[in-house]
Amino acid sequence: MDPRTVILYRSKHHGNTKKLVDALVTAHPEIDTIDVATLGKEEYPDLSPYHIIIVGSGIYYTKFDKDVLRVCDHCLRDGDNVIGLMTYGGAAKFNGGDLDGVCRMKMATLMCTYGCPGFDTFGPYKLVGGMNKGRPNQEDIDGAVAFYDKFLADYGEILVEERLKRDKRDAFNAAHPAGGLFTNLKRSAKKIANRVKGEGGKETSAKTEPDTSAVAACESVAAGESVAAGGADEPNAPIKSNASENQ
Ligand SMILES: Cc1cc2nc3c(=O)[nH]c(=O)nc-3n(C[C@H](O)[C@H](O)[C@H](O)COP(=O)(O)O)c2cc1C
Repeated sequence: MDPRTVILYRSKHHGNTKKLVDALVTAHPEIDTIDVATLGKEEYPDLSPYHIIIVGSGIYYTKFDKDVLRVCDHCLRDGDNVIGLMTYGGAAKFNGGDLDGVCRMKMATLMCTYGCPGFDTFGPYKLVGGMNKGRPNQEDIDGAVAFYDKFLADYGEILVEERLKRDKRDAFNAAHPAGGLFTNLKRSAKKIANRVKGEGGKETSAKTEPDTSAVAACESVAAGESVAAGGADEPNAPIKSNASENQ
């Protein structure tokens, strides 16, 4: 299976970043693209089919486009693999930290970034005819394609394998929902009860049946009753809960 790639981008100043996007798609027509400018405010794309998510943007006020970051924040999930793609007017060294931050918060990985200067007429630069005229140039554009080709050669297969593992994990989790706090408490109580039973043989006849008092206590808590450690009738029971909060 070949890795699937999508480019999620915004290029609002001079279309500089879009030049890199277009070159990547020309070299790899199988790549899908999503221009964030075409999405509604509450419209979020499904990135789950993609092994590689390229996030492209000009740098505006030292950051990736805020709508690009918002969509990333909403759509990325654990195990996603991201490449940053950017053009900028000034120095490159601090760019991309914000995208990295969003990836970390979503437990996705910013694997690498490619960036180059882009024509910039923002603010005072307009008065002097702009900075970085002619950028990205052909060398910048070819560099972006070569960068992606190398990434694909180095990581393509690995990312497909890792995604299969995630898909399996997802399928397992869907088949074995963890449940809420009280489901877990009940499970623990049942385990304890079974262990007590398992120690049996030596037990008195009263203990040969599983001790279900802990289970009953959990069920009482789930039903919203006050329960003390010694049983449901103790007056100074501190535990109170609402079952609906935990389902
Ligand atoms: C509002 C605005 C703010 C910008 N802020 C920065 C900046 O903080 N640092 C920088 O290096 N370039 C900055 N730039 C220049 C752009 O990053 C550069 O022109 C980029 O190539 C634009 O990409 P685009 O044409 O794809 O939008 C800014 C440009 C604009 C319009």
